[in-house]
Amino acid sequence: MAAKLITALDLNSEREAVAAIEAAPDCQWFKVGLQLFTRCGPSFVQRLNNEIGKNVFLDLKLHDIPNTVSHAAKASVDLGAKLITVHACGGEAMIAAARKAVEGSETRVLAVTVLTSITDVTLRDEIGIHEPVAEAVRRYARCAVEWGAHGVVASPHEIETIREVVGDGPVIVTPGIRPAWASAGDQARFTTPREASQRGADFVVVGRPILEHSDPAAAVKAIQEELHE
Ligand code: C5P
Repeated sequence: MAAKLITALDLNSEREAVAAIEAAPDCQWFKVGLQLFTRCGPSFVQRLNNEIGKNVFLDLKLHDIPNTVSHAAKASVDLGAKLITVHACGGEAMIAAARKAVEGSETRVLAVTVLTSITDVTLRDEIGIHEPVAEAVRRYARCAVEWGAHGVVASPHEIETIREVVGDGPVIVTPGIRPAWASAGDQARFTTPREASQRGADFVVVGRPILEHSDPAAAVKAIQEELHE
């Protein structure tokens, strides 16, 4: 099945976010991350879900003791978020608590494995994990799903290797997407929407190629067409 498009609202105000949503009427999914959340807070997430009527990916990358993550996950359900993120390295009890908190709702818990800003050297010398990033990604993905995550956030280059360890069921959400017509920006290892969809992503997250486009509605349409090819 074709991957669905999530537009990342990496913006600093509710006014800018609403303008971006109105400029891309065909997009049904929007990501609220730390940048917008720390500016606009839960009331905007609620407005996006209830009043504006879009699906919300609330990407707060929760990582805390299980009790706190459980309450934050429950609060995300109450705000109407359909996808939320937790760090896989929070461990079994934390991920199980997040999963339990969303049971009975439509909200799905995604695990973040190793951030793409982390290198093999950072992992070894600063974090103290003595395995290459690629292996840590596979291990975290497998464990996170075993512990209750509904899916993972992954680089498009990791989709196949993650599918090998978790199978076809779990949801895979991939940022690091650049249509052929967009500039790379600071994304070093990206793929096109078509490639990510063909590799088996369920959702692709795209920010600047849409937000900075002179015609965001046309950008959304072009990306959605590629996802269906
Ligand atoms: O503007 P751009 O399309 O690069 O935005 C991609 C979105 O995905 C941003 O919200 C960014 O934080 C997020 N992201 C990413 N690469 C990762 C993880 C998340 O670009 N490895």
